[in-house]
Amino acid sequence: MTGITSEAPSRPNVRFRQVGRPLTRTDAPGKVAGRTPYAGDYVMPDMLHMRVVRADVASARLVRLDVSRARALQGVACALTAADLPDRAVSTDIPGQVGRKRLDTGQQILVRERVRYFGEPLALIAAETRDVADHALELVEAELEPIPGVYDPVEAMQPGAPIVTEPDNIVAERRIRKGDVEAGFAEADVIVENTFRTPFQEHAFLEPEVGLAWVDENDVVNIRVSTQVIEHFRPIADAIGVPHNKVRIRGALVGGGFGGKEDLTVEIYLALLARRTGRPVRLEYTREDSFVGHGKRHPFVLTYRTGVTRDGRITALDVRMVADSGAYVFLSPYVLLYALVAAPGPYRVDNLDVFARAVATNNMFTSAFRGFGALQACAAYEQQMDEVAKAIGLDRMELRRRNFLKTGEPMSTGFVPPSAIWTDRCAERAWAALGEPTPARGPIRIGRGIGCYQQSYGRLTFLHDTSEAWVGVEMDGTVVVRSGVTDIGAGQVSALGQIAVEALGTTLDNVVVYNSDSAVTPLAGTTTATRALYMTGNAVKQAAEAVRARLVERAARAFGVAPDDVDMGFNEVFVAERPDRSMPLVELVRICGAEGIHRSELAMFRAPFTDFLDPETGQGQAHPDYAYGAHAVEVAVDVDTGEVEVLKSVAAHDVGQCINPAAVEGQIQGGAQNGQGYALSEEMLYEEGRLITPSFSEYLMPTAMDMPKVECIILESRSGVGPYGAKGIGEPAMTPVAPAIANAVADAIGVRVFEMPITPERIVRALKRRDGTGRLDSPA
Ligand code: MOS
Repeated sequence: MTGITSEAPSRPNVRFRQVGRPLTRTDAPGKVAGRTPYAGDYVMPDMLHMRVVRADVASARLVRLDVSRARALQGVACALTAADLPDRAVSTDIPGQVGRKRLDTGQQILVRERVRYFGEPLALIAAETRDVADHALELVEAELEPIPGVYDPVEAMQPGAPIVTEPDNIVAERRIRKGDVEAGFAEADVIVENTFRTPFQEHAFLEPEVGLAWVDENDVVNIRVSTQVIEHFRPIADAIGVPHNKVRIRGALVGGGFGGKEDLTVEIYLALLARRTGRPVRLEYTREDSFVGHGKRHPFVLTYRTGVTRDGRITALDVRMVADSGAYVFLSPYVLLYALVAAPGPYRVDNLDVFARAVATNNMFTSAFRGFGALQACAAYEQQMDEVAKAIGLDRMELRRRNFLKTGEPMSTGFVPPSAIWTDRCAERAWAALGEPTPARGPIRIGRGIGCYQQSYGRLTFLHDTSEAWVGVEMDGTVVVRSGVTDIGAGQVSALGQIAVEALGTTLDNVVVYNSDSAVTPLAGTTTATRALYMTGNAVKQAAEAVRARLVERAARAFGVAPDDVDMGFNEVFVAERPDRSMPLVELVRICGAEGIHRSELAMFRAPFTDFLDPETGQGQAHPDYAYGAHAVEVAVDVDTGEVEVLKSVAAHDVGQCINPAAVEGQIQGGAQNGQGYALSEEMLYEEGRLITPSFSEYLMPTAMDMPKVECIILESRSGVGPYGAKGIGEPAMTPVAPAIANAVADAIGVRVFEMPITPERIVRALKRRDGTGRLDSPA
């Protein structure tokens, strides 16, 4: 279903041999054959099995915690509570930025006095078998005295609300002020105001949190763990009170991350018990542990007030956002910042006022999830665009066309993205690809919707992000890449291999990439923020090109030509346009080896460094660059039952340059599914902060049966700041999907459901409201 359109007038001569091809990923054969070991597959002799004892209420005082019966059980090696630990809080490191300010989440490792959310860890158990650990869990006695909690971020801001985080539950507050909003509204013919709500979302990776830890002969705590971030070795060392060089994270291929393995998960628990018992310890979360054990997507309440002229020009935009931070801070200030920057979407809005707050509650803590705040903003601004179009009687696509931000224009923060802005052509292509409308039939109504987006790739520029990679050529002409990057299933490692072999004139079967070991691979930063390809891809390219330059220089001497006339490809070195004058790469490498010409390079890629945005106006550069695109859908809604079927789903993204188009399509297919579940069915239900949907029989992700064929239209502007002009696709693939579906449902039934997920119940209620058959006060 993939179509790729390359349009690169700025770089017409680029000719790739490896990059841009749908090569079989280096990680594919092992995964297909079931041979690839994941973190949960590792075992050691004499290994203990762990469980985490959790609070079963969301807000309480811990009156008494007694683990003596658990400790006495035969086969229990250790039962640990806060009383056994130094009084330390966990902080979220900013990897690579030692000495810069850390975000202190204030989260206790184990509950000392106060339980702030359902599932908060009370004690750790290690036993000879998993069964014994399970049994011991039930012998722990915890007396919890309920404290009034608060479970709604808007309520949590009211005077007199229970305090979760001192002094007033507001954990972050940010604004953008640009132009003259009052004058902009005065100029408007119509002002449209709506409030949209977005829900919690669970990452639902197939592989739950899992790891194995042991203390080695150098007294180093080794942790083999499923994580997006091996540089968590620093906060782990701080939390357990050892020097940073005494913790080593060895990653593994990750069975799904999506942001949920961006924070620490099982690492500190493993490290504590490995040291305490002197034995290897293994901890694998149950699915229920996983539901309550990592931060969710932030729910947002977003109020959009848009001023527009009759002919569809946006004159002013005022946005209020409230995000639910849950019981601890984690990445909330950053998620909020992404939402703030993304607030107007891919539209030119010169008079802009955005005020965003993240608020603590006694809900599950919230943190990173694919799209990271910018996705929640998109859910609102794209629904608002349809409502504005309706209010002035203008076609939805036409309203968008008249307001799209264009290449070279300043975005919300006044920054001009350095790359092409192709929202317009992505939107046109996606919309056109929906083809002939499906006819309505009986109670089935058909509707269409589009979502357009702006999503950053690369981390916030004030974090001063860097990534390192080492590339070398072996004596037989094969290539070795070393980089700390984690591969979370998107093919990060294979893409790096493809870049290295492109630069070094060899092929993908001739490269091995060693990755994800905090002690021995050069540190590459996180696999988050759609940054791995951008940052580490650039580092690998830089290192490989440095090696290439030395090889080519030697070959030029051998051929008696200038280095610029030498080219390399498919394991041959030759004079460009003169393939008769060539030598095998292996021969050139042997010459270089014999003459001591350096065949390897360690490179560091640095993202643009900036200061923080102006705190008063929010103006400045927030990210290195932005990606743009669109998603269009057609849905069928049964007005009797409220059921929605997505009939057609079309994605069109400018990815800059595909490194591996098959991997790009994989991200787009997954993003379409991830966004469809968010829009329609995935629902985390709480009662007083207690999660009542902690399994896949209650938390409904779309299955293969629910998914239409997703058509992928991939555009290549070759204008991105990644390697060979690449942008990013990991997060962007998901961002526009949910509002496209919401708009299609509204188009089908003529009334909007302002709260996701758009469940059959909410649709039926909205229809009753529309037809005046329901109680007017019933919430939709
Ligand atoms: Mo992420 S949501 O893995 O930056």
